[in-house]
Amino acid sequence: MNSVTVRVPAKVNLQLAVGPLRDDGYHDLVNVFHAVSVFDEVTAVAETGMSVRVEGESADQVPEDGDNLAIRAAVALARHAGRSYGVSLAIRKAIPVAGGMAGGSADAAAALVACNELWGLGLPTEDLMEIAADLGSDVPFALLGGTAVGTGRGERLTPVEVGGTFHWVFALADGGLSTATVYGECDRVREADGQGVPLPRTSEALLAALRAGDARALGAELSNDLQPAALSLRESLGRTLQAGRACGALGGLVSGSGPTCAFLAESEAHATELAASLKEAGVARDVLTAYGPVPGPTVV
Ligand code: C5P
Repeated sequence: MNSVTVRVPAKVNLQLAVGPLRDDGYHDLVNVFHAVSVFDEVTAVAETGMSVRVEGESADQVPEDGDNLAIRAAVALARHAGRSYGVSLAIRKAIPVAGGMAGGSADAAAALVACNELWGLGLPTEDLMEIAADLGSDVPFALLGGTAVGTGRGERLTPVEVGGTFHWVFALADGGLSTATVYGECDRVREADGQGVPLPRTSEALLAALRAGDARALGAELSNDLQPAALSLRESLGRTLQAGRACGALGGLVSGSGPTCAFLAESEAHATELAASLKEAGVARDVLTAYGPVPGPTVV
């Protein structure tokens, strides 16, 4: 085999509870990840060296050198296998770049799956999960897909039972936000408030809504502790969230560290209507509809 293509989904966080800053610079989280049907595609071709090419949505903002997270994933996998494999990666992006939808993590997860296959390593998912956690807090979930609660940095995962399909609208913003900057702003805002930061706890009401497949109940339970920080760094997101509510979304929030905003709809038809209304309101660079949960990386 000298070419493998893997399709990999984006995520939205249904609950993102952020605990106090840890000594290692990370925060303990309760992070309810939900994979949605916005997909990047990563093609791995056998080569002597390591290289990456990126095309599609905001491709010019993705590094095409050793800083690229997908290349770092391939390098880490080769090192784990103890061999000097090579690969040329081609990434076709649809997931917004630096958008709070784990696009970079998705590409890294796809690269792990693609290279594992291309190089005939046959490594089990547990091995890939370990490499993934070293690459970034969101990469293990990007390997898993579906819906799951992440604790620790977000890398310790427990799959969640979901009793239906949920329909989403994503409002894309101009330019990205750096995850580290948003976490830093979250600490700053909290310190300025002078309130203690409680340990993060899973919302049982949110899990019950997921189990029941109840979109209305889920809409009421969506929460993101990073949202005030994202709004502080990007004021315009307040207008986007307001517009989504005014257009009849069951719930809306900033996705992860932003700046993408996610809105929950009642049905596929409602998502299409909501997307059209948001487009007309002029509060987003672009608007996408999607559904979740969807499986993790798939060889196509
Ligand atoms: O793990 P990852 O490299 O994706 O994290 C990027 C940045 O996000 C970290 O350097 C840190 O500033 C912040 N972060 C955090 N707590 C987490 C996950 C990420 O503070 N649980």
